Amino acid sequence: MYKNIEEITGKKACSSTGCLKAKNGDIIIDKERILERWVEYIEELFNDNRKEYDVMKRNFAGPPILKDEIIECEEFLLQHCRGLMSSQRVTHTKFKFQDARSDDCLEVIIPEVAEESYGLYIWPCSPVLAQYVWQKRCYLDKKHILELSAGTALPGIVAAKCGAVVTLSDHIASPRCLDRCRHSAETNSLPDVRVVGITWGRISQELCDLKPIDIILASDCFYDTKDFEDVLMTMAFLLENNPSAEIWVSYQERSSERSIKYLLDKWDLSAEELDFPNMDQLDSSYENYKAHVIELFSIRRKDYKR
Ligand SMILES: C[S@@+](CC[C@H](N)C(=O)[O-])C[C@H]1O[C@@H](n2cnc3c(N)ncnc32)[C@H](O)[C@@H]1O
Repeated sequence: MYKNIEEITGKKACSSTGCLKAKNGDIIIDKERILERWVEYIEELFNDNRKEYDVMKRNFAGPPILKDEIIECEEFLLQHCRGLMSSQRVTHTKFKFQDARSDDCLEVIIPEVAEESYGLYIWPCSPVLAQYVWQKRCYLDKKHILELSAGTALPGIVAAKCGAVVTLSDHIASPRCLDRCRHSAETNSLPDVRVVGITWGRISQELCDLKPIDIILASDCFYDTKDFEDVLMTMAFLLENNPSAEIWVSYQERSSERSIKYLLDKWDLSAEELDFPNMDQLDSSYENYKAHVIELFSIRRKDYKR
């Protein structure tokens, strides 16, 4: 302790002979007086308000910063900056679903971000599948529905608004797309909608943990031929868990030479065209789907018996 005090204060309070000096410089040899002087001296140290020696500041290395702390901090800053960047460019698009034969109607607002990444904005397939979901709403109450590669998730949000138990998903390595799913659910006051990362062609824990699904929604998942088989493999896996489940797919024709027929056979799946919904009953400023050829079909297991 003495050594530490000496280092901290840079002054000696005791002579090398072991005796102590009183404040006034007198030598103290009495044991009790020595103890009293120590008490006095230590109290002075605790109440010492003098400024610190520069040498102490220079030598004070402090505890090392852990790598994990830096990574955590970096992630926080990245998320924060992403949030700031995306919140600046978010636009809100309103969709009003109606029914000519009743007063039923539903308003949904989809926040989208105008950036290059695929899942951040609405694709033309999405309102078409959403309108189909709306027209099938009387079958959806309490049904378990998974939207694959949902992006801004319009069809899944409509399903949830119609009473379905909905899980939205997107590529596990696309946190910004998963954020879009969450944001769409929050914007439409759907706190019970779950969001999970599911990547085509990958049997992940998240995929295995899903409860049996009744209907799978897939809007514009078949756009790059190199991924077609991975998409179908994920679909086949989901149907394995619930063989009576059905997949509602909206597909944008980008080339007439593309076909999934051979791959459907390979995965023991079959496809059937669905009735195209009446798009006149959808009211929205988003009208991109009108400029494209969109098809709707259902995929089931080949061995499914109606
Ligand atoms: C053309 S966008 C369609 C988005 C949305 N379904 C729609 O129609 O507006 C394709 C979607 O597939 C997702 N995606 C791309 N690669 C994927 C992969 N390997 N696994 C899962 N999803 C993927 C993208 O993140 C994006 O959300």
